[in-house]
Amino acid sequence: MGLSRIVYASREKEHFGLLEIQGLLKEARSFNGKSGITGVLLYDQGLFFQVLEGESEAITLLYQKIAKDPRHEQVTTVIQEPIESRYFGNWSMAFVSSYGEGIGKVSGLKSFFDAGHNLLQLSPVQANLLIQEIAGGQWTVL
Ligand SMILES: Cc1cc2nc3c(=O)[nH]c(=O)nc-3n(C[C@H](O)[C@H](O)[C@H](O)COP(=O)(O)O)c2cc1C
Repeated sequence: MGLSRIVYASREKEHFGLLEIQGLLKEARSFNGKSGITGVLLYDQGLFFQVLEGESEAITLLYQKIAKDPRHEQVTTVIQEPIESRYFGNWSMAFVSSYGEGIGKVSGLKSFFDAGHNLLQLSPVQANLLIQEIAGGQWTVL
């Protein structure tokens, strides 16, 4: 089986404060670490954007579980494809919150967000711009 990634966006159903995010990350990192899954979770104003990287079968199964999680809705797949190498190989699940960083500042995406669009409406090309920006290390990763 080869390496793949799944990139999706979703909307919280109940509010995720710092405590809920920390709980989620603890759960995710424990499972992902045991399953060879890496990636990043971005939270911005009630919306999630997540990259899952790993063996195709492992991330497909995880994504099925995540998609059914009652804590969020409008789970929207943006990219699902084989990859040569990981962007977030050092992270069982990196976390970036756009407080202070501002997804609206990502070059190439500013006009998109300024026009009132959100993470749920990203095209694959736009999602890749965001992923490259995060992986580029300019943001605070927790
Ligand atoms: C936005 C979001 C992202 C999540 N990311 C992960 C993840 O990367 N890894 C993980 O194991 N669980 C993640 N979860 C939690 C899963 O949906 C699920 O609760 C967890 O896998 C436990 O499932 P189980 O009780 O069926 O074993 C995430 C949940 C949400 C809402």
